[in-house]
Amino acid sequence: MPHRAPGSPGHSAPNYLTGKAIKYYRPRGSADVRQLIEGGFQAFNAGRLSEACHIFADRMLSPEHDTTIGLTVAGALTPAGLGGCVIELMERGLVDFIISTGANLYHDLHYALNFTLHRGSPFVNDVELHEEGVIRIYDVLFPATVLLETDAYVRDFLVRCGIDEPISTSELHLRLGEDLLARREGCENYSVLAAAAKYGVPIYTSSPGDSSIGMNIAYHEFMNNSRLMIDPNKDVNEICAIVLAGHKNGCVILGGGSPKNFYLQAQPTLWEVYGIQKGGNEFFIQFTTDQVVWGGLSGATPSEAVSWGKVNPGVLPDTVVAYVDSTIAFPLFCEYAVGAPFGRRPRRNLVARRRELLATLHAEATAAAVSRPAVGEIETIGDLDRKT
Ligand SMILES: NC(=O)c1ccc[n+]([C@@H]2O[C@H](COP(=O)([O-])OP(=O)(O)OC[C@H]3O[C@@H](n4cnc5c(N)ncnc54)[C@H](O)[C@@H]3O)[C@@H](O)[C@H]2O)c1
Repeated sequence: MPHRAPGSPGHSAPNYLTGKAIKYYRPRGSADVRQLIEGGFQAFNAGRLSEACHIFADRMLSPEHDTTIGLTVAGALTPAGLGGCVIELMERGLVDFIISTGANLYHDLHYALNFTLHRGSPFVNDVELHEEGVIRIYDVLFPATVLLETDAYVRDFLVRCGIDEPISTSELHLRLGEDLLARREGCENYSVLAAAAKYGVPIYTSSPGDSSIGMNIAYHEFMNNSRLMIDPNKDVNEICAIVLAGHKNGCVILGGGSPKNFYLQAQPTLWEVYGIQKGGNEFFIQFTTDQVVWGGLSGATPSEAVSWGKVNPGVLPDTVVAYVDSTIAFPLFCEYAVGAPFGRRPRRNLVARRRELLATLHAEATAAAVSRPAVGEIETIGDLDRKT
């Protein structure tokens, strides 16, 4: 019988770190997986996953639609080895920018720095793990020294990079990625941050203080009197500028959480705050375990997002939510996309275009401000002349 009773009598501490190393899985466009999704995934959430694959591969990636694609990442996906899927999509130009929890980027650094996370079991004694100095993310296990070493790298980087002013998270992640590329040859193959820097994909974090990267930035300010800090306004405006520039816009949302809204709020920021009528996203795909009935944003449907001007009301057929664990759905989805006819696009290199896109946003917002109704003059939403 497998050991499932933490602290059972006579139990001696096993070595928890003997499980296989978790490696970043790279999808290769498997014909068998495509056949399964086409022929086997016919109804319920398998049907929704199949639909998501079609919307992405046939429509979002089609040159006809020229869609700027944002990927949002919540849940512990890099610890589970899904960073390789993200790298493959970036390398092929299938995602143009990313919004992730800081945790996923922090844990990506372990791979970049060649530390090992192990496959394990969720049925272990956590008190014993604590005594042994082993950290657990559900069934992913690794020594606490990995945290300490990764934190030391982040602090060294913060000193070495010499940044001493407020910056966007895209700039922070670019500089981190460049530092990794310079120090670890070939690490773009096993680090999302390094690959993003190499392929010109901006990565944003919606809650920069909420991760070990943020914790070390706080240390750096406090202990080294640094003026490096994350300015979330820069992120909000850069994402808005990217969405404004998109011929069409679409998203792939993994999980929910703050990255989901940080992406979706770009459209309301444009129409509601800047007075620029963009019309809402044309495509929306979400893989989630969150439910709509609790009223939270994580489980909110594309239909609800229409009411906010986040999703174009004319395109609901191009939206889908599959209620499925992303650790299952995302690799399948990526296999399908990579093997699809439009499985490679020219990369947009948005990292290099941030300044230019911000200038366009500024010009359009300045023009819109001239004809803006004053406080007390807005009687209906129609006064804003929303294009849909
Ligand atoms: N050391 C670190 O840096 C560290 C470590 C862990 C978490 N954190 C922080 O804690 C917060 C919470 O972390 P989180 O994003 O892992 O968890 P979360 O529980 O907040 O999940 C975020 C969203 O993703 C969904 N989700 C999670 N796993 C999923 C899966 N397998 N499939 C489908 N949907 C899934 C959730 O339902 C939720 O909507 C984050 O803001 C993160 O930055 C930091």
